[in-house]
Parts: sequence; structure tokens; C-alpha cells
Amino acid sequence: MNTNNLHQFIENMPKAELHLHIEGSFEPELMFKIADRNKIKIKYNSVEELKAAYQFNNLQEFLDIYYAGANVLQTEEDYYDLTMAYFYKINEQNVIHTEIMFDPQTHTDRGIEFLTVINGIKSAQDKAKEEFGITSKLIMSFLRHLDEDSAFKTLEQSLPFKNLIAAVGLDSSELGNPPSKFKNVFSQSIKLGFKTVAHAGEEGPAEYVWDALNNLSISRIDHGNKSLDDERLVNHLAEEKMPLTVCPLSNIKLCNVDKIENHPIKAMLNKGLVATVNSDDPAYFGGYMNENYLAVTEALNLTKEDVYQLTLNSFNASFLNEDEKSTLITKLDNYFESSK
Ligand code: ADE
Ligand code: ZN
Repeated sequence: MNTNNLHQFIENMPKAELHLHIEGSFEPELMFKIADRNKIKIKYNSVEELKAAYQFNNLQEFLDIYYAGANVLQTEEDYYDLTMAYFYKINEQNVIHTEIMFDPQTHTDRGIEFLTVINGIKSAQDKAKEEFGITSKLIMSFLRHLDEDSAFKTLEQSLPFKNLIAAVGLDSSELGNPPSKFKNVFSQSIKLGFKTVAHAGEEGPAEYVWDALNNLSISRIDHGNKSLDDERLVNHLAEEKMPLTVCPLSNIKLCNVDKIENHPIKAMLNKGLVATVNSDDPAYFGGYMNENYLAVTEALNLTKEDVYQLTLNSFNASFLNEDEKSTLITKLDNYFESSK
């Protein structure tokens, strides 16, 4: 398949996204519009000035700007507009299923009600299903730079909305905040019926991946890149068929991989790992799903079969039930067959 055809194949392919922070899909134009509406002053004078600040040397430098951006969100309409903008974007990119993370503490710590956040997001999920046929799940992420008590409080606030949330997750500043810090709240979440995921091995060491596996009973690892430093861990992940939600452009923007030609996603596939492609925080990292697929495909000479495998992995690793998975995988398979 020539490059042009492979690009088209990627763009039109039915895809699933499993690692997306809704606050990280907040495009500067919408941020200014909402700030205006809420009469909040942004530290930057223009969209261009704000975009120029998106140069990060590490995760923390990004998080500082990401939390500042999220601070302009206040009303249910804001959360609806934010989420709907993401759905419009992914609909254009043929994403047919998405699992959206949100960070309740980023909002509730500023006095915004949990209800306001989740109602806005849920209305957009319903609209996207109705208008585009896109299915979606919600993952409630605990901020790991805060303490476990705060996560417990968030878990309690979520209980009236339990049927709207598929899983709990763990994000924010990884170094110094190992997964085991949240062992009890994850254990309680599982008892309540939530699935669990966690960011691990993004910036933190392979030991944090072991820690997440051993202490949080996770169904997927978010990122997991540093697992490659530990051969025993790689073998374990491959044996267990543990999915990794890999985010190529994020890894470049946060300097976790020096250049896209050195991205490990092809090596992960070669080692039998269940890697998937995701966008993480697309408004900050220069691309949504298609841009992430295209970047690694071009730089690593991925084949059409590699691209298919990555996408199949995503559908299989999703929190859809077996019937739903099978319906979406049939769509993917038909697409793949008809492209031959
Ligand atoms: N929150 C939003 N994006 C994140 C990332 N890439 N790592 C950790 N926490 C995050
Ligand atoms: Zn993430």
C-alpha cells in the first residue's frame, strides 16, 4: 500500500479512543469564548499567545497550564460545550467509540458541583450517540498529587451517578505519587462495581507499573512506556494481555520520547504487547486520533496490518460488553477487508 493510500486508510478507519482527558481537549478558541462568557480573565492576551505557551519540558509543566485552563469551566453548559466540541472533532475522524476521562477534583476543589460537571458531559454523550452514533464511557480519574482522603471524598460524591461511570482512574503528577498511595480507594471502588485503570510508567519507573498491577487491580495501563525497561514486566504484560493506552504525540510534547522516530509503539507490538493509539490531551499536544496514528505510521513505517492490529486492540480493550465489541469489530473487519 502506498503512503497516500495508507493515510486514507487510517483517516477513514473506524476507531476507538481509550485515553482522553476531556479537560485536555479544551481548544484555546473555546477557552477564550467560555472565559469571556464567565467574565474570567485568562493570563494570556490572545489565542496565539496561549498557544505559544504550549512548550513543555516535562509532565508538570504541562499540568500547570492544563489546570489553569480548566479553571474557566463553571457551568453545565461549559462542560457540555467542551465535550461536544470533542465529539464533533472525533466524528470527523471516524472515531466510533471513546472512553473519556474527567478529573472531578479539578472542578469540585473550586466549588463547582460534581453534578454540574457530570450533567454537562452526560448531555453531550447523549447528543453524540443520537447525532453521530458514537458510543462512549466515562472514567473518573483521581488526582494523584492530592491525598487518598480527597479521592475517597470524590468517590462518595460520584455515587449518585455511579451508573454513568464505567471506571476510576489515576492521573496527574506521577513521580513521587506511586499507585499504592491509592490502594484503599481503588479497592473500595472495585467493591462498588467500578473497573480501574491508572497512569503508570509515563514518567515514573517500571516499578510503578508493577505497583499499579499489584495494588490497583487495573484492567488497562495508561501509557506504560517505561515498562520496556524491565524485561520481566514486558513478558508479564504480554502473557496477561494487559492493554497499554499509548499516546505518541503526548510522549513527544512531554519529552518522554525524544523524537517520533524513536517512539516505542512498534517495539511494543513486536514484543507481543497489547498497545493502542490515543490522543491524551489533543488540544495541547498537536493532534487527535488521526494525527497520532499518522505520526507513528509515517515515522516507524507501520504497515496496514500494524494499524489494523492497534485498532483491533482498542476495541478489545474497551469497556464495552462482548456483544457491543463484536459489533464494532465487525465494522472494523469489514472496512479492512474492503480495503484489500
Ligand atoms: N492529566 C492529563 N493529562 C495527563 C497525563 N498525560 N499524565 C498524567 N496526568 C494527566
Ligand atoms: Zn493521560
